[in-house]
Amino acid sequence: MDKIKIRGGKVLNGKIFISGAKNAALPLICASLLTDETVTLTNMPMLSDIKAMNALLEQLGTKINVFDDFVDGHATKTYSYRTKNIESLTAPYDYVRKMRASYYVLGPLLAKYGKCELSLPGGCAIGARPMDIHLASLEKMGAKIEIKNGYIYAESNGRLEGAHLILPIASVGATCNILMAAVLAHGRTVIENAAKEPEIGDLAKILNAMGGKIEGIGTSVLTIDGVEDLHGTVHKVIADRIEAGSYAVAAAITRGRIELINARAETLRQPLQVLRDMGVMVEETANSIIVDAKGRTLIGKDIMTEPFPGFPTDLQAQFLALMMTAEGASMVTETIFENRFMHVPELLRMGANINVHGHASAIVRGVKKLSGAPVMATDLRASFALILAGLVAEGETVVNRVYHLDRGYEKLEEKLKSVGADIIRIKSDDE
Ligand code: UD1
Repeated sequence: MDKIKIRGGKVLNGKIFISGAKNAALPLICASLLTDETVTLTNMPMLSDIKAMNALLEQLGTKINVFDDFVDGHATKTYSYRTKNIESLTAPYDYVRKMRASYYVLGPLLAKYGKCELSLPGGCAIGARPMDIHLASLEKMGAKIEIKNGYIYAESNGRLEGAHLILPIASVGATCNILMAAVLAHGRTVIENAAKEPEIGDLAKILNAMGGKIEGIGTSVLTIDGVEDLHGTVHKVIADRIEAGSYAVAAAITRGRIELINARAETLRQPLQVLRDMGVMVEETANSIIVDAKGRTLIGKDIMTEPFPGFPTDLQAQFLALMMTAEGASMVTETIFENRFMHVPELLRMGANINVHGHASAIVRGVKKLSGAPVMATDLRASFALILAGLVAEGETVVNRVYHLDRGYEKLEEKLKSVGADIIRIKSDDE
């Protein structure tokens, strides 16, 4: 398995191009199942999760083409998806096991073909992550759902029916699945307490461009009037706010300056405010965010994760790492997932001063120095927190289980190297 080796202590300086958002691209790919025509997605990130979703769709019968492309002068990929003849309505265990977001095929397949068999995703490193809200909502829309042998068997007698849904939790995944089911249902669906994450806005936007009728985008009440048919479209994936936030922390933690090209400040209001409150200079330009911590002393700040527009859980680990280098104490409270401090024991091994209280909060006290160590994390964002710690630690840090990072950070070493980091990937066959 590949590893990443970092020699800490470099002040990062320069520009990083922010890729298309993984968490937007995954449901967008599945939205292509709702039409027989071609859906083209530009500004796609090259990530292992995208490859895994593409493999699942190919198995369902989707024909996929990939082209080299440019967005604002940066090389990216464009993918086209066409599902003219569906060959399977099953998302098997091997696909769902590798990537939970495989469950995004459920809404589209059920809406268009009246049937889907989906391996039930289990819990994962950060929590139990059930699908009860997805399933209860689809049942209210007329689906018959049975769970047996580890699979969800979902069927509808003809089209799904619109329904009035009030989500008990503003779940991102459930909101996306219901949106994709409701665009082709009979009649009107209303989703109250819908999640408002920007990736949902991106999904609603493509569905409307395909002929859907969704109102209330960006608010917690979405109204969807079902249509008979959807058609193809071309859509540019929004910039990845979590990647942007992660590199913003890379600038802050090394007391450097990075311009995040293509990042969208309106998707990062809370994290940018936290940086400002800590003493980091943050400037917003028309197509970038400049994060400048040069020569600054940072002060600890409390953060609490919340659904959008609150502080994102996917940036909690990275900001916790930043707090380790700030003056004073910071309290980090996690309210979305029940097991999201798995990075802390590894950070302690690098000399951090962190006390975790139960599952929900951690007190981080700033330390004068961290020291490099071999470390590994159990999930994607926690792995990036270890990279951040490695960037400021004295000596060498080796981050193991790099496959987590490859799921969500495009060209990670290349991007960090371009702003001055001393970082290399050790391929498993180099050992
Ligand atoms: C998505 C993101 C993930 C992010 C999370 C929260 C993708 C592919 N993943 O995950 O990176 O951390 O949003 O912003 O976009 N829940 C239930 N029952 C359900 C559904 C959810 O209890 O049926 C709970 C979850 O266990 C969790 C909370 O609701 O505690 C929020 O989960 P949700 O918003 O659904 O997150 P995901 O869509 O899984």
